[in-house]
Amino acid sequence: MSSFPDRLHAAGAACALLLAFGAAAQTGGEKFSGIGRVATPAEVKAWDIDVRPDFKGLPKGQGSVRQGEVIWEAQCTSCHGSFGESSDIFTPLVGGTSAQDMKSGRVDSLLPGANQPQRTSLMKLSTLSTLWDYIHRAMPWTAPKSLSVDEVYAVTAYMLHLGDIVAADFTLSDGNIRELQQRLPNRKGMTTAHAMWPGRELGGKPGADVQGSACVRDCKKDVAVRSFLPDYARNAHGQLADQSRLLGPTRGADTSRPAAEKSGQNVASALAPRGETAPENIAKQDVTAILQKNACLACHAMDSKGLGPSFREIARKYKDHADAVNYLSGKIKGGGQGVWGSMPMPAQALNAAEAGRLAQWLAKDFPDR
Ligand code: HEC
Ligand code: HEC
Repeated sequence: MSSFPDRLHAAGAACALLLAFGAAAQTGGEKFSGIGRVATPAEVKAWDIDVRPDFKGLPKGQGSVRQGEVIWEAQCTSCHGSFGESSDIFTPLVGGTSAQDMKSGRVDSLLPGANQPQRTSLMKLSTLSTLWDYIHRAMPWTAPKSLSVDEVYAVTAYMLHLGDIVAADFTLSDGNIRELQQRLPNRKGMTTAHAMWPGRELGGKPGADVQGSACVRDCKKDVAVRSFLPDYARNAHGQLADQSRLLGPTRGADTSRPAAEKSGQNVASALAPRGETAPENIAKQDVTAILQKNACLACHAMDSKGLGPSFREIARKYKDHADAVNYLSGKIKGGGQGVWGSMPMPAQALNAAEAGRLAQWLAKDFPDR
């Protein structure tokens, strides 16, 4: 969560690079001959989706709190909860802001000593454009960019309503979003000490951060770039695997063991919380790759319950089920609800071959169930 704005900056930078290259290639003609091709206007348009703090880039559209509620219930609650409080796995999006914060533009619960258990997205948010842009490009997690522009307006309106920033009958649009920026609880909470904010478009003078002079001399002629952590430092801050959340595609490595020789070799065992069976021991590597690629591990683990049941429990349940492969591959693609509890599993965007492979693994190849 702390990297929310940073990630957007990174995305913006990548986008700017691409555009710069597109422009250079176009004007430079043969300058880069043999390297790629000039991006077509349609490609540039498809990439150029960032919405800036002054709302430059924001497409026209609108959506009401009520429409947003419907989308939220169907597509966001499974991870972020009915009220943005989130499941015990994800950090909360809403909460911790007050009517007083909306007046002052500073969120009191961010102050040292405030009795706030977790920082929510709305507590930290200083530019409304960022919320709109983030949902538009990245959510829902399992199907990014699947929401229409109006749906993004609606679900953003609903989040603002959950945060008591707008009323239940509010409709958010490109016409009134600037007024709402003026009501954001943390709109004055962004630091300016780094001299990169506010940017030129907001009347600032960026660039003061790069006014130093070059001070590097006597550089090495040949430099081998590599990344490694000496063994003595590996566990220096305690077991990393115990310090991050238990579920999800990105987890701390097991630092109590030496690093694997080849990079990548440790991925599967890092995925399994300690004491669990690493996926590569259960089936061939391709199962792990398919699970990772499709973010199944966001909700399922090998041996412990997450949002969904553990894979071992599933394998046990369908052990003697005659049509298990067919049944499970259908469920893996289509999702479902009610077999294990009230939490729904959304439909998954994997192909039939992948779903079939996973179903085969769960129904037939799963050892020691
Ligand atoms: C399958 C789980 C899942 C679903 C469904 C989902 N999200 Fe998320 N959402 C996440 C995760 C995980 C993150 C954090 C992503 C990261 O750190 O890279 C996140 C982050 C966010 C954030 C940014 C939080 C922050 O402060 O960094 C917003 C806003 C958000 N989601 C809104 C939505 C909305 C709106 C929907 C429904 C349209 C939705 N999400 C559906 C899992 C989900
Ligand atoms: C957003 C969380 C989420 C994601 C992502 C997810 N699942 Fe699930 N899964 C669930 C939940 C919740 C259930 C329980 C549904 C129920 O009770 O019917 C479930 C159930 C299952 C079942 C058992 C179905 C049954 O009828 O018994 C299988 C098999 C399964 N998931 C496999 C997968 C695979 C493979 C992936 C990745 C392609 C995946 N899941 C991604 C949450 C998720």
